Amino acid sequence: MIARVLTAPAPGWTADADVVVIGSGVAGLVAALDCRPHGRVLLVTKALLDAGSTRWAQGGVAAALDPADTPDDHLADTLTAGVGLCDEAAVRALVTDGPAAVRRLIARGAEFDRDPGGDLSLTREGGHHRRRIAHAGGDATGAEISRALRAALKDAGVEVIEHALVLDLLRDAAGRAAGVTLHVMGEGRPGGVGAVRARAVVLATGGLGQVFAATTNPEVSTGDGVALALRAGAAVTDLEFVQFHPTVLWLGPGARGRQPLVSEAVRGEGAHLVDRSGTRFMTGRHELGELAPRDVVAKGIMSRMSETGEPCMLLDARHFGAELWERRFPTILAACRFHGIDPVTEPIPVAPGAHYASGGVRTDLHGRTSVPGLYACGEVACTGVHGANRLASNSLLEGLVFAERIAAAVAADRNDPGPAVPADGPAGLLPGAAREAVQRTMSAHVGVLRDAAGLDRAAADLAALVPSADVAPDVAAWEATNLHTVASAVAAAARRRTETRGSHWRADRPDRDDAAWRGHLVTRRAGTGLATVYEEHR
Ligand code: SIN
Repeated sequence: MIARVLTAPAPGWTADADVVVIGSGVAGLVAALDCRPHGRVLLVTKALLDAGSTRWAQGGVAAALDPADTPDDHLADTLTAGVGLCDEAAVRALVTDGPAAVRRLIARGAEFDRDPGGDLSLTREGGHHRRRIAHAGGDATGAEISRALRAALKDAGVEVIEHALVLDLLRDAAGRAAGVTLHVMGEGRPGGVGAVRARAVVLATGGLGQVFAATTNPEVSTGDGVALALRAGAAVTDLEFVQFHPTVLWLGPGARGRQPLVSEAVRGEGAHLVDRSGTRFMTGRHELGELAPRDVVAKGIMSRMSETGEPCMLLDARHFGAELWERRFPTILAACRFHGIDPVTEPIPVAPGAHYASGGVRTDLHGRTSVPGLYACGEVACTGVHGANRLASNSLLEGLVFAERIAAAVAADRNDPGPAVPADGPAGLLPGAAREAVQRTMSAHVGVLRDAAGLDRAAADLAALVPSADVAPDVAAWEATNLHTVASAVAAAARRRTETRGSHWRADRPDRDDAAWRGHLVTRRAGTGLATVYEEHR
């Protein structure tokens, strides 16, 4: 349910900037740094600067950095993973700009792992036919990138507000972005609702994994940017394509919240997927076996679980030995041992888990959304790069490349909005406790394996949660409301797409249907609700 005006810039505080960037993962940090030469930049983040998904990224950054590799080879693997829905021009921008973007990241201070000769150490992950994944700290790539970019930010003169939840987009009378409203919780600024006026707003709010009960995403990944964009009338696309990472550490049937990832790079270095009897069930299902694109591996694991009645499968990397485990995968080793599993001596229990939104706020090749002055990059955006299924380790690269492109667009566009009119906020909010109800519904009915009956049930359960103007506007209520808005849009798109493609797997429609579905589902505000329409592939 979407209607008008809950949040207004007055009577709270206001701040002014040329560019306001929302989010502090790789995309937000690069956008802030690269926009800085074009004016005053304010970066707003919901918790601490390093609280988002970037710091948890293990595998690495994919780019054609090896002399034997080419952007065309990277393009081919990305298009194959995307199952007919990638925007080829966007993928070409990604793979062509990618190697230089990684080198600029290194120049900004990120230290990637190197082989004894001093060259970048490159590994493979699912769907890649070549070794092209640069990694840092073994399996702590995101943490190193975040560290380096946060250090660079300190010297760049970017102002930062932490502990500030973005609420809604401010627009002028002509509909141009003019800033955002915020709910600030931190010190150093008055609390409560305030506003930042800016001529450019860059959404880099990250993912929406918290719509599910169990996910690799941190607690802050509540889809705030997609919810804001929907309320602001921006086009949001491909939401049905939520990627389930094949190998998430299985902690039991009732596990909730953020779940530890076991990187694809573990398979890239030679780990095997087996069932309890020790059978390698991916062999024969795909020419790349365990290194097939991740939707294929997730489906292989789910199918084998169903054939054997086992609640998880096993990832066997005992043959790595202690030295390789400690040097190459220290983060995963520690997480497994924390949960009582020693991968050096026993296989790791794994199952697919919600991991990444391939869809999001639709942008052009320079991060422009359908609202003038509003840009999006990183996981919140749908640049067209991922199609129906993201290729492993393309996400950090996409954040780098498209944040840089936004900076160029912001400089060129010179958006000059007039005075802001009141924001289009939700008519009411859900109480914070509704978060769990949304998550339960989504995990039960809109998970890795979907069907019409479950999706109907999800739509009904979500519609039964009705926001109210009587709910106090605290952060928990805003997050629950955003999760509900986003979950409703994801469920509607999943219900509408009556085929199986990439990470959208319909048990009742098991085949890909190019005649009917080689296009995109686009969700926009319609009156007080949302409408999802089918558009031909661009
Ligand atoms: C992984 O390390 O498997 C995750 C990388 C990604 O999501 O691209």
